[in-house]
Amino acid sequence: MLPHHLPEPELFRPETGEPALRWGVVGPGGIAGAFVSALHAHTAQRAVAVSSRSAERAGSFADQHGIAHRLTSLDELVAHPEVDVVYVATPQSEHLAVGLAAIAAGKHVLIEKPLAMNAAEARQLQAAAASAGVLLMEAMWTRYLPQTSIIRQLLADGALGEIRTVLADHGQAIPADPSHRLYRPELGGGALLDLGIYPVQFASMVLGAPRSVTAVGGMTDTGVDAYASMVLAGEGVAQATLTTSMLARTPNTATISGSEAVLTLGQFFYTPTTLRLEEPKPFGDALEWTDPTGLALFDGLSWEATALARFVGEGRTESPLHTLDETVSILEAIDAVRAQISGGAA
Ligand SMILES: NC(=O)c1ccc[n+]([C@@H]2O[C@H](COP(=O)([O-])OP(=O)(O)OC[C@H]3O[C@@H](n4cnc5c(N)ncnc54)[C@H](OP(=O)(O)O)[C@@H]3O)[C@@H](O)[C@H]2O)c1
Repeated sequence: MLPHHLPEPELFRPETGEPALRWGVVGPGGIAGAFVSALHAHTAQRAVAVSSRSAERAGSFADQHGIAHRLTSLDELVAHPEVDVVYVATPQSEHLAVGLAAIAAGKHVLIEKPLAMNAAEARQLQAAAASAGVLLMEAMWTRYLPQTSIIRQLLADGALGEIRTVLADHGQAIPADPSHRLYRPELGGGALLDLGIYPVQFASMVLGAPRSVTAVGGMTDTGVDAYASMVLAGEGVAQATLTTSMLARTPNTATISGSEAVLTLGQFFYTPTTLRLEEPKPFGDALEWTDPTGLALFDGLSWEATALARFVGEGRTESPLHTLDETVSILEAIDAVRAQISGGAA
C-alpha cells in the first residue's frame, strides 16, 4: 500500500535563524559563478572576497557579482578578517592544498565535489578540520535539495519496504578536447570524480557503505577514466547498479526499488527534479511530486549554502546529512572502481 501522500520536504529556507556568513571564493570558474549567483539571489549569505591566479579574472568576477575584495593570493583570501567561510571551486587537484590552507587559517570550508582526489586526501582534510574545530563540508548539493528530504523521510518510514535495488546514472558528452579539465589527469579529470560521484553518493545515502565494489570501464587516450559500470553490494540482497560516462549523454535518472514500492527520480536526478512513487506492479497506483520551490537547476546550489550556515549556527563541524566518514567512504568506492578499470594505475 502506498502512503496517501508524499511527505512535505524539510527545506533549508533562508533567514530562519542561520548566521549571514561572509564567503571567500577560490577559483572563479564555471561553478563558482553559478554558486555565487544562487547565493546572492536566494540566501542571506554574501560573497565578500574572491581569489584567482589572475588579477583580471578576480576583478571581472568581483565586478560581476558585487564582491568587495579581489585578490591574487590564496593566503590573503583565507586570512582575510572579513571572510568567515571559504568556498573552494578549483579543479579537484587543488582541493587538498586550498582546503588545508583555509582550515589552517581557522575558516569553515565548503569544498566542491569531490572533496579531494581520493580517500587518502579526504582523510587528511577531515583530520585537519577536526583538530582546528572548523566545519568542513563537501559541496554535494544534491543532499540538500527538497527532493532529497522527501527521499530520506520515505526511507526512514519504510514506505518502500525492504530496499533491494538502486539504479543511478550520470553521463555527459564532454567534447574530446585534451585541454579540457575532465581530460587532464593532473587536474583530477575523468568521469568518476566529476560525474560518477553523484550516483555513488546516491547509492551510499540509500544503502550505506558497500560490502564490495565491482566495475568495468575504460580510459581515455589522455589517461583518465572515461566510463564505468559499477555494481556495489549492500547488506543482504541489496545492490546498486551505477553508470557514468563522459563520452555520452545518458538518462541521468535514478530509481530505488523496494519490496513494497518503487521510487523514480526524473532526469538530472542530482538537480531539482521530479519524484514518482509507485507500486511494484504494472498499472498500480502512483504518487508524483515536482519541486514546487521555483529554484531550478543551479539555483538549487543555494540550499547547500543555507544548510552550511545553519550547521555553523548550530556549532557543528560537519554535515549531519553527509558526514565526513561517509564522504571518505564514497571516495574509497570510487578509488576501488578506478583501480579496477585502469588496471591498477589509478
Ligand atoms: N556542484 C556542481 O554542480 C559542479 C558543477 C561543475 C563543477 N563542479 C566542481 O567544481 C570544481 C570546479 O569545476 P569548474 O567546472 O567550475 O572548473 P573551471 O570552470 O575550470 O574553474 C575552475 C577555476 O579554478 C581556478 N584554478 C585554480 N587552480 C587551477 C589549476 N591548477 N588549473 C585550472 N584552474 C585552476 C581557475 O581560476 P583562476 O585561473 O582564475 O585562478 C578556474 O577558473 C570541480 O571540482 C568540479 O568537480 C561542481
